[in-house]
Amino acid sequence: MHAIDVTPKVWDRLQSVRRDGACFCCGQFTTAERAALQIYGPVARRDLGPLTIAQIGQSLDGRVATASGDARDVSGPEGLAHLHRLRALVDGVIIGVKTALHDNPRLTVRLCSGDNPARIVIDPRGRLPDDAPVLKPCGARRIIIQAVDRERSAGVEVLRLTAANGRLDPQQILTGLHGMGLNSLLVEGGGLTITGFLEAGLLDRLQVSIAPLIIGAGPQGLTTMTPVQTLSQALRPETRVFGLGSDIVFDCAFGDMAVSANTPMHRPPLVSAAC
Ligand SMILES: NC(=O)c1ccc[n+]([C@@H]2O[C@H](COP(=O)([O-])OP(=O)(O)OC[C@H]3O[C@@H](n4cnc5c(N)ncnc54)[C@H](OP(=O)(O)O)[C@@H]3O)[C@@H](O)[C@H]2O)c1
Repeated sequence: MHAIDVTPKVWDRLQSVRRDGACFCCGQFTTAERAALQIYGPVARRDLGPLTIAQIGQSLDGRVATASGDARDVSGPEGLAHLHRLRALVDGVIIGVKTALHDNPRLTVRLCSGDNPARIVIDPRGRLPDDAPVLKPCGARRIIIQAVDRERSAGVEVLRLTAANGRLDPQQILTGLHGMGLNSLLVEGGGLTITGFLEAGLLDRLQVSIAPLIIGAGPQGLTTMTPVQTLSQALRPETRVFGLGSDIVFDCAFGDMAVSANTPMHRPPLVSAAC
């Protein structure tokens, strides 16, 4: 496991990676700083085309909330800071409407420096009220993906898609958002929304942050619609493990991302290499 240290120098470099296409392999960094570059660098990169990453914070027993719905916050302080860093590195953050209704998140960047991402809610039936915190103006784009004709407040963009049996095609969601200029996307939850992208094979990365608490009951992080029958069929992504302090992150890469984004400058061992 690699302990990370997100010093101002590291964060500046990551902002340069995102903004200017800088590398994150060169320079003098401590081992923990270099580990921070390794976990966030693949998210900050723009040279590999569109990126879809999901992040979920869960307890030791795999829960994301209590049975009564208390979900603030499962993650520890460093886990929350980690989430805000991810927000600052992507173009847009996606949540399902249940999270928007239950948690009233703002999806803004508050625990680190950086721009607010576009805030995107998948709300096929148009259930989200116009005064939801996630729709409050904050200088960033606000987008609702819906399958009904419902007017939204001025400044809120609507991506209108067609549902089949109440479901929106995750690929159409990504294609629509890419067409709106949003290429790096963080799916922040909840579990239903993340597994929709996971099962469609559309996640480049999945980060599962585990906080040291046991809740005992309540909604679980990821539950797929098409579970495997044997362990040999289980997804086994290329995974690196990072220590945040309060929480541990399993950083999983799928498909091409497991090969391209992690090499040559992202692959452990965490050594400095020239570009
Ligand atoms: N710990 C964490 O990291 C974290 C993060 C976020 C949320 N949470 C917790 O997770 C819980 C909510 O999560 P959840 O999994 O139940 O729900 P969710 O993912 O927040 O929202 C699911 C809903 O979003 C809509 N949706 C998402 N993808 C869709 C698609 N492809 N096609 C059509 N509709 C789609 C549907 O809305 P309709 O129901 O209108 O059809 C669906 O029922 C809350 O307890 C929240 O506190 C935890």
